[in-house]
Amino acid sequence: MTRHIYLDNNATTALHPEVLEEMLPFFREHFGNPSSIHWAGRRVKTAVEEAREQVAILVGCDPSEVVFTSCATESNNMAIKGVAAARQALGNHIVTTTVEHPSVITPCVYLEHQGFKVTTLEVDNEGMLDQKALEAAVTDSTILLSAMYANNETGTLFPVREIGELAARKGICFHCDAVQAAGKIPLEWKNSNIHLLSLSAHKLQGPKGIGALIIRKGTKIFPLLHGGSQERNRRAGTENVAGIVGFGKACELATRTMATDSVRIAELRDRLERGIMETIPGVSLNGHPLKRLPNTSNLSFLEVKSDSFLFNLDLAGIAASSGSACSSGALKTSHVLKAMGIGRGAIVGNIRFSLGPGNSDADVDYLLDILPAIVQRLRGTDAAS
Ligand SMILES: Cc1ncc(COP(=O)(O)O)c(C=O)c1O
Repeated sequence: MTRHIYLDNNATTALHPEVLEEMLPFFREHFGNPSSIHWAGRRVKTAVEEAREQVAILVGCDPSEVVFTSCATESNNMAIKGVAAARQALGNHIVTTTVEHPSVITPCVYLEHQGFKVTTLEVDNEGMLDQKALEAAVTDSTILLSAMYANNETGTLFPVREIGELAARKGICFHCDAVQAAGKIPLEWKNSNIHLLSLSAHKLQGPKGIGALIIRKGTKIFPLLHGGSQERNRRAGTENVAGIVGFGKACELATRTMATDSVRIAELRDRLERGIMETIPGVSLNGHPLKRLPNTSNLSFLEVKSDSFLFNLDLAGIAASSGSACSSGALKTSHVLKAMGIGRGAIVGNIRFSLGPGNSDADVDYLLDILPAIVQRLRGTDAAS
């Protein structure tokens, strides 16, 4: 029987069994609408507010600053379009970076079409943001800066504290996509100058289809969805109660286990990388070697194509991914690695292993056992094609 080893936790994570248990009653007996004032509504309203507190504890914010959304894509859209609309009387300039997730880049492109000006900052070859370039990019009309906490492809961590200090000095609103950082490393919120923080439950063992935008008190932002008065008039629509309850439980678990999990996962990740580097020549690491998430390893295998590599890994039961995804037969180049100035050969042979709480030493042993033969075989075929 083929083993199934999941090393794609930056794409999504398995739902934690305790999260599922917590959610089930809200699909069965607790069906009320949290806006209803009768017993059925009050019961679920209480659960939503408890979950809000659990999310707030993980972030270190006030529960009133948590706005539930349908996913981080919505949170990012709301942050960028909502702040642009609310602050347009102050200016029309937005600053972001080349390595953001498409759910940040695309709303910025949309706003450009609406007449806003967008500056997209370059990163260096380790995926790090140049703060001098950031300072130079800010003008009197800059109203918003959107820079991520941790990169989803490489795990590189931006210096969010310093970026926030600059934003505060210049009077700019700072939005930070913290989707990949939440649940893996402690988040800077309390003493930071981040105004808006995007989160997604399914990246931290919670359910899909639920996210949050943390909005610091006093931040001017327009809603994306207009309708009812849910989420204190900041996000209309009947709440995804089961999703919210699951998100809250996932945050509670992460708050409790993150410190020990991240040390264990980083050890596994480092052993995986060491093992690969020692047995397979022509492998390089993409991203910052130290300032990165504990679970992410983005490697380039020279003379290998990532689509055939992923296919062979899949045949061996290993789920991993690549920023250079193959869609409809064509290899799409990773915009992140391209922005880092990584050479084409290294981009083409790029694989991301992203570990999670479910991974064990045995998973790493198995991968290290089968990988050299796969790479050797592919180097014979891929290099020739
Ligand atoms: C950095 C980052 N931002 C945003 C998203 C979008 O999250 P969601 O799936 O909740 O829309 C992802 C998902 O991969 C991500 O990695």
